[in-house]
Amino acid sequence: MENKLEKIISLAKRRGFVYPGSEIYGGLAGTWDYGPLGAEMMHNIKEAWWKKFVSSRDDMYGIASSIIGPEQVWAASGHLEHFTDSLKKGKFNIMFKSKIGALKEETSNVYLRPELAQGMFVNFKNIIDSFHPKLPFGIAQIGRCFRNEISPRDFLFRVREFDLMEFEYFVREKDWEKYFEYWRKEMWNWIEDVGIDKNKASELEVAPENRAHYSKRTIDFEYDFPFGKKELYGLAYRTDHDLKNHKLDYYDEDTKERFVPHVIEPTFGVGRTILTILDSAYTEDELGGEKRVFLKFKPSVAPVKVAVFPLLKNKPELVNKAKEVYEMVKKEVQPVVFDDNGNIGKRYRRQDEIGTPFCVTIDFQTLDDNTITVRDRDTGKQERVKIEELCFILREKF
Ligand code: GAP
Repeated sequence: MENKLEKIISLAKRRGFVYPGSEIYGGLAGTWDYGPLGAEMMHNIKEAWWKKFVSSRDDMYGIASSIIGPEQVWAASGHLEHFTDSLKKGKFNIMFKSKIGALKEETSNVYLRPELAQGMFVNFKNIIDSFHPKLPFGIAQIGRCFRNEISPRDFLFRVREFDLMEFEYFVREKDWEKYFEYWRKEMWNWIEDVGIDKNKASELEVAPENRAHYSKRTIDFEYDFPFGKKELYGLAYRTDHDLKNHKLDYYDEDTKERFVPHVIEPTFGVGRTILTILDSAYTEDELGGEKRVFLKFKPSVAPVKVAVFPLLKNKPELVNKAKEVYEMVKKEVQPVVFDDNGNIGKRYRRQDEIGTPFCVTIDFQTLDDNTITVRDRDTGKQERVKIEELCFILREKF
């Protein structure tokens, strides 16, 4: 599709998914602001990720660590020495540096975290002391990271601040290959769960010279973006690099051994997930002889789940009934929108364009027999059902 990225950026801005950062002052390169629909989508993605990888599991500990870290953390992790722009080899470090403290003589250097991982490593001992986990186990978090990228580009793809969803999975050294394979499969399952086009995703075994300083094996999950095949997610075997450098270890109460666990790290960029889902979902077709654009989102990530319409705005009996239905549906799924603006065809198109899976219409027949129509976004087909069955039907569809 010609200019697909431009079409996505334009739709995202027009409909309130993503706006350029600080736009009224001419913009700030590498920053984007999420509007109500983008923020809702982001929330859905993070919630699904947390549920899948953290709260539904017995071996994962979720945390939320500080964004600011002292210089010692980044010296131990190797980021002070090695964290350079991936496009330009050299020694331009891309961490954002700042000072902490009010008085000059009391200030010390701090850095905004460029990855989440160090938050998990510096809390490794705390988690062990509080929860006494047995290997293998993981520490996970979702949060914002900062990188002073030299050339931010390609919409949400390369930006200067972004959210990551990441975990460190601690294993015995002999088991690292087994768990690497296990997480590789789970990452593919996630890709499918959120509606990323699997046919456009592939794996790249990263060559030793291109791997991060801490990794002995890395697989990039790539996606065929409109601007080329690029990294979407990463899976790395971080060995015992970090725990060793932070001088941390693990004591196995059963075997009475003390050793440094090894680490498998799956990492997922939130912005790249959103961009990839938008690209996978963006569809142009013809419906009823008219061209249309729609986002074929999975219901779980869609920012609006259901739209409720009275057929006509100027018929109070239709509007009142539609409001009743709207309140009823809202108790079942959220968010739901109520729209009585413009003709019904235009309202359907507006919802198609933001990927709302179902539209419910209240018409004159509703007043006679208490039935409404439920329209499916992808086919445009309408099904007439009884109002009292609607919540049950929506529950099934979601
Ligand atoms: N802890 C490992 C780590 O941070 P990374 O490959 O440097 O690994 C992880 O980054 C993920 O963060 C990437 O797979 C990508 O999804 C996302 N990411 C990295 N740099 C980014 C940037 N400048 N803009 C948006 N997302 C980025």
